[in-house]
Amino acid sequence: MPLGDAMMTQRAVRRVLPDPVDDAVVLKCIELALRAPTGANGQNWEFVVVKDQRSKDKLARRYRQAWWIYHNAMIRRVAARDESMAKITRAVQWQVDHFAEIPVLVVACLRLGVRDGKLPLVPLPHAAESGYYGSIYPSVQNLLLAARAMGLGASLITLPLWSVTSARRALGLPHSVTPCCVVPLGWPRGRYGPTTRRPVGEVTHLDTYGNRPWRDT
Ligand SMILES: Cc1cc2nc3c(=O)[nH]c(=O)nc-3n(C[C@H](O)[C@H](O)[C@H](O)COP(=O)(O)O)c2cc1C
Repeated sequence: MPLGDAMMTQRAVRRVLPDPVDDAVVLKCIELALRAPTGANGQNWEFVVVKDQRSKDKLARRYRQAWWIYHNAMIRRVAARDESMAKITRAVQWQVDHFAEIPVLVVACLRLGVRDGKLPLVPLPHAAESGYYGSIYPSVQNLLLAARAMGLGASLITLPLWSVTSARRALGLPHSVTPCCVVPLGWPRGRYGPTTRRPVGEVTHLDTYGNRPWRDT
């Protein structure tokens, strides 16, 4: 599908079928993800494709616990008076309840260290976080778009990784590898609905913050 169409319709599709997804399709999505940039071309990414039932069960438990806390502490009150948040809440609840049935979970990770002995990835003060996580999220967006183009349902989620220690244990990750987010993949139950986003003129500033000449266009 044309890239623009994929971008305009890519959204969090949480309700997916338990039917298997071919490894070839998953690997193609990851291959496309790898076209993304990384800091200093470090390519310090690792993708763990989780299909094993016990591993999915473990992550599902973590997701349920994290969602329970997050929902009760923050989301519930907002959802009570905001229908769009209530809708998201119902979709997340569905995903939490069916997480272990989702055929494939791709865990996008970053490895801290040297690549081919060439470049030590030294943490830098201010740019550290941006540079570090900035080396995984472009690839994750590529993964989401690839999934969209192939008709797969996908979403970017982080709550199952609430405890990094526990996630590392569930996935057998060494300390040098940090799980950043999970992309559950499956054939969608429904259709890709439209996305709702703020207008471009509202969030775009010219030269200085607050100068928004395109606001009313
Ligand atoms: C950093 C990040 C973390 C997210 N974590 C979760 C999550 O744990 N669970 C979930 O259901 N959605 C999660 N989302 C998905 C957002 O809720 C979703 O992208 C947003 O509601 C827009 O949805 P739409 O693309 O369908 O319009 C996350 C998104 C981002 C960018």
